[in-house]
Amino acid sequence: MEARVEVHADEAAVAAAVAERLVALAGAALRPPFTLALAGGSTPRRLYELLASDAFASRMPWDRVEIFFGDERAVPPDHPDSNWGMASRALLDRVPVRAHRMPAEEGDAEAYARLLAARVPARRGDVPVLDVVLLGLGEDGHTASLFPDTAALDETRRSVVMNDVPQLATRRMTLTFPAINVARHVWLLVTGARKRRLVAGCLGGAEAGAWPVLRVRPEDGELVWWLDDAAAGRGGRR
Ligand code: 6PG
Repeated sequence: MEARVEVHADEAAVAAAVAERLVALAGAALRPPFTLALAGGSTPRRLYELLASDAFASRMPWDRVEIFFGDERAVPPDHPDSNWGMASRALLDRVPVRAHRMPAEEGDAEAYARLLAARVPARRGDVPVLDVVLLGLGEDGHTASLFPDTAALDETRRSVVMNDVPQLATRRMTLTFPAINVARHVWLLVTGARKRRLVAGCLGGAEAGAWPVLRVRPEDGELVWWLDDAAAGRGGRR
């Protein structure tokens, strides 16, 4: 399915548009749980804070939502680099939702894959079908913890793996392309002028091998690039 691009004026407008769409999807979900995988990094923090705010918290059916993670650093939850920690401060500590931390520091990807299989009712073959997967985009074209020239890029069977990332001298736990590409809605949240050239390259027809993010190609689900003007290279045109 062709990627859809939604451009909004700035980070706050992107967060508001994504939050509205999440409320609509979660509210319309026919059978609980509505399964959502959170992205790490810094971009989604504003969305998570908005979802926890008075404007949205009471509109999300949290009792029917179940939260997972797209990736995690191999650090404990109280470490400043932890995606769980960021999402907890912004959202998970503030709303009554069931969430499953990725214990990347323990390195047991199979255990998280089993958890996904147990908690996510929909299935494509052996792969759990998440309702929504939120992703960010690194300046090297990585998404989740699928970094250039790392082994996880070539995973074709497992839904979660540990991935050695020599360029960061670390290991990460990450969803794989098989898990991402069967999801119903795959949303890339990319803001800021720093990513403008990469976004233009990705949306301008670059070869799939150019950057890992280009291997995010949902089989049946929708792929949406949620951009602000700066990342879309539309500065000042509004
Ligand atoms: C992580 C993320 C990663 C992130 C990108 C973009 O654990 O770091 O999952 O894929 O989304 O690196 O990060 P920023 O949003 O901070 O630019």
